[in-house]
Amino acid sequence: MKTIIEPFRIKMTEPIRLTSREEREQALAKAHNNVFLLDAEDCCIDLLTDSGTGAMSTAQWAAMMLGDESYAGSKSWKKFESVIKDITGTKHVFPTHQGRAAEGILAQTRLKEGDIVPNNSHFDTTRANIEFVGADAIDLLCQEGLNTNLEASFKGNMDLEKLTRCIEMNGREKIPFCMITVTNNTGGGQPVSMENIRAVKTVLKKHGIPLIIDACRFAENAYFIHELEAGYQDKTLLEIAQEMFSYADAATMSCKKDGLANIGGFLICNDDDWAEDFKNLLILREGFPTYGGLAGRDLEIIAVGLMEALEYDYQVYRHATVMYLGKKLESLGIPFVKPVGGHAVFLDAKGFLPNIPPAQYPGVGLVNEIYIDGGVRCVELGSVMFGKRDEDGNETPAALELVRLAFPRRVYTQSHFDYLLEVLGDVWRNRDAICGYRITYQPKFLRHFTCHFEKIA
Ligand code: F0G
Repeated sequence: MKTIIEPFRIKMTEPIRLTSREEREQALAKAHNNVFLLDAEDCCIDLLTDSGTGAMSTAQWAAMMLGDESYAGSKSWKKFESVIKDITGTKHVFPTHQGRAAEGILAQTRLKEGDIVPNNSHFDTTRANIEFVGADAIDLLCQEGLNTNLEASFKGNMDLEKLTRCIEMNGREKIPFCMITVTNNTGGGQPVSMENIRAVKTVLKKHGIPLIIDACRFAENAYFIHELEAGYQDKTLLEIAQEMFSYADAATMSCKKDGLANIGGFLICNDDDWAEDFKNLLILREGFPTYGGLAGRDLEIIAVGLMEALEYDYQVYRHATVMYLGKKLESLGIPFVKPVGGHAVFLDAKGFLPNIPPAQYPGVGLVNEIYIDGGVRCVELGSVMFGKRDEDGNETPAALELVRLAFPRRVYTQSHFDYLLEVLGDVWRNRDAICGYRITYQPKFLRHFTCHFEKIA
């Protein structure tokens, strides 16, 4: 087979500033050792997130010019609604400025104190929105998903036994809905099989509990199903996505991922009463229901982007890049979550730095060293992001200590990835010199974004 090439050519370029090691050391110190607080121009390759960082296509740039900025009932809204209905088959569509706004509206209209929301793994903003209204967000990831070394196909699946037990123990009344996140970002970008979505739906239906899909990376999940699950090879990614959504009663979406847009999101549902509640809070928080938190041109961009994300050649190229990196990491002996995820490679910081205990945040040590060595910015998904600190300062560590290298869509080329591999190789060879960190300041919610770290010498 010939090399899989990028199925696009580049029409516009954006310069990258190359920095020296000394400049990076100074920049990181100024940012209190938290890469979220760095200036983006001090990052040579920015793999902090795949969210809102993608490059738009010519079709999307052209669609922008068609943006109808009418306050109510714009043409752009109609396109947006029609594409989303085509993909999801859902009755009610509400645009939001991004995914967490959809999560906030869902949590604030459907949850009360003491409620429980199961998920395969909640993303941090989903968890925070649920906890903000006093409910409990619990993760019921399948056992395979917790084993970072296991090569298995659908490690994002929900554990059905745990789900059944959770419902029996807590009672249906305590569980206003259950979520499933595709792909499972927190657990390594691992996909969820159609069989699992269907089975989760069957369990929930028995108890009358609605299923909500966190659909941020629905197209990548559809691609995995196409490649790995029996019976889906002759279906298009659109058909697979349609089946995934057919099991859902509602969904939250960040269009900054598989909407191939730089901003945007939506909340969808079938139930008329839910829709009424969503609409009222949407108007208060986001805007009139036909634009939500978005401009007409954003609605246009998303309508095009959602369909481009479902193009097969695009997904083949995207996954080839991630797999290329995985194969090279394997040959270097660097520990990472296997198999590679859809949007990212997740390094196993526990395996990388076994001598740094979770309370000293090995993921932060690794992220900071990768930045210092090569100006590559990535992110910790471990005890800083998912661990908990009680009022006495005691920490419960996260189940996994991961470092995510997330890949913006259609942005970096092969040589950027070869450079990244050189950086990771250097950091791996010099790993014995990497230190742990302590937190010297943290806010009440979502601490990883703004907390300050100090190196433990
Ligand atoms: N759900 C998942 C699975 C996500 O990955 C994200 C965002 C959200 C919800 C929230 O969407 O950012 O539009 O408000 N994830 C980004 C990331 C931030 O870097 O993984 P948002």
